[in-house]
Order: sequence, then C-alpha cells, then structure tokens
Amino acid sequence: EVLADYQGTALLEKQLSDKLGISRCIVLPGNADRQYRVIDSFGRRLNQLLGSILPTGQSMISVTGGSTLARVARNLSPDLSKNRQLVFLPARGGVGESVTIQANSVCAEMALRTQGQYRALYLPEDISEKSFESLQKESSIKSVLDLIYRSSVVIHSIGTASIMAERRNLSAEEQSLVDNGNAVSEAFGDFFDQSGKLVYKVPRIGLHVRDLDKIEHVIAIAGGQSKAKAIQSYMKNAPHHTVLITDEGASKLILRDN
Ligand code: BG6
Repeated sequence: EVLADYQGTALLEKQLSDKLGISRCIVLPGNADRQYRVIDSFGRRLNQLLGSILPTGQSMISVTGGSTLARVARNLSPDLSKNRQLVFLPARGGVGESVTIQANSVCAEMALRTQGQYRALYLPEDISEKSFESLQKESSIKSVLDLIYRSSVVIHSIGTASIMAERRNLSAEEQSLVDNGNAVSEAFGDFFDQSGKLVYKVPRIGLHVRDLDKIEHVIAIAGGQSKAKAIQSYMKNAPHHTVLITDEGASKLILRDN
C-alpha cells in the first residue's frame, strides 16, 4: 500500500516535470488553497531538500516574498546550520508589499528559524528607473546586491497575475498592459501570459528571471488549484534546472490541461 502510493507519486512527479519542462517536481498531498498545513509541508520538504544540497561552509540564499514563502519560512529548522553559515537575502528590492510577506521579512524569518544570518534591502517600490540606476551604486545597497548575485540558491514563489498586479499597486497604465496582455503569472516582477510571453516587467533592483540560469539551485514553491495556470505560464520561462515543490491540487489540474 505504502509502496504503491510512493510509486504513484513518483510517476506523477515525473509526468509533471516532463509537462513543465523542468528537471524535477516534488508533489505533496492536498490542495494549498484549502489547507494551510499543505504550505507547512512545503516548508518541511524544503528544509530536507536544502539539507541535502547545501555544502558545508557559507551559502548565500536569495528568497522572494509572498504569502506562500512567509509560511514556508516558519518550517525551516536549525539543523540546516550544522557545519554551515547561511545568509538569507531578498532576491529583489522593494518594500511595497505588506510587511509580513515582503522578501525582507521572509529572509529574517528564515534566518531566525535556521539560526542563520540575513541582510535586508530597504527600497521603495515605486521609484523611477533613473533613481534605480543611482541607487544601485550606493555602497549599502551595492554590498547586498553583490551578495545576491553570488547566491548559490534561489527560493521563489509564483503569483497569480491579477492578485500580484493589485498587490504591487500598479498604475492605471501598467495595469492595462497586464490586462490587455492577458497576464496569468508573475515572478520576480515579470508578468507572463498563458504562452509564457512577457507582457509587463516591474522595474526593480535585484534578480530577474534571466539571472536564474547562473544560479546553481533554483527552487520554486507554489501550490493550490488556483495556481495551476500561473505555474504553467511561468515555467515556460523557467531555467530547466528548476525544482518545483507543489501539491496534488495544482499538479492534477496541470496534467489534465492539454
Ligand atoms: C511576491 C513575489 O512577493 O509573491 C512574487 O515577489 C511571487 O515573485 C508572489 O510570485 C507570490 O505570492 P503568494 O502570496 O501567492 O505566495
């Protein structure tokens, strides 16, 4: 019975990775839309995964914000810091989101739970591209950015475009680009349509989807049936070595879709 279940999950994970075109999927039971504990199980699985991939010594780990990762963070544990010095960093600047789910807070929580360290990036969300350019050169910001670009691990979530557009307080003009472009997913400030085409990009400091190719371990975490379309859309742009931690709710919908 247990073996049959394991084989069933292994098959589902293989089919999902093939369909999404990424190296690995980890599918956990349940549907995150209905049960918060499913997100806790993502966190425990992430803890295991990090335990198996992180070398001894120092590692820089960049993370994005969002409600998924805020809850995932609470499930990391100090065993990860045995023989390791972990430094958690926000993958992107921007403090527009509510404090509890912004990347800075997710970093702080991960550091607290693992007894590691963190660095924050305090940057307003809605500043001009020109200001971004000069801010990037500020030494306090530059030192954190340099660490971000040296990360060996990125942990990110995938958002539903409509929810993310609202959360990011887009202007009417930006909002119409997202709407007219029929965006369905968002990650790292990039909005993509169903076919994976980039329809809008929030100008911000930090990691972009294109930078992920250079990062050794890329871990995406998103679950629930409501995220199925967003996951499919984002994965059209994800680097092949992405590992996705998700649930049965999202997986089954993705596999059903042709
Ligand atoms: C944002 C991240 O904070 O949260 C996005 O910057 C991510 O990249 C999004 O897609 C997901 O949020 P949630 O609440 O659906 O986990």
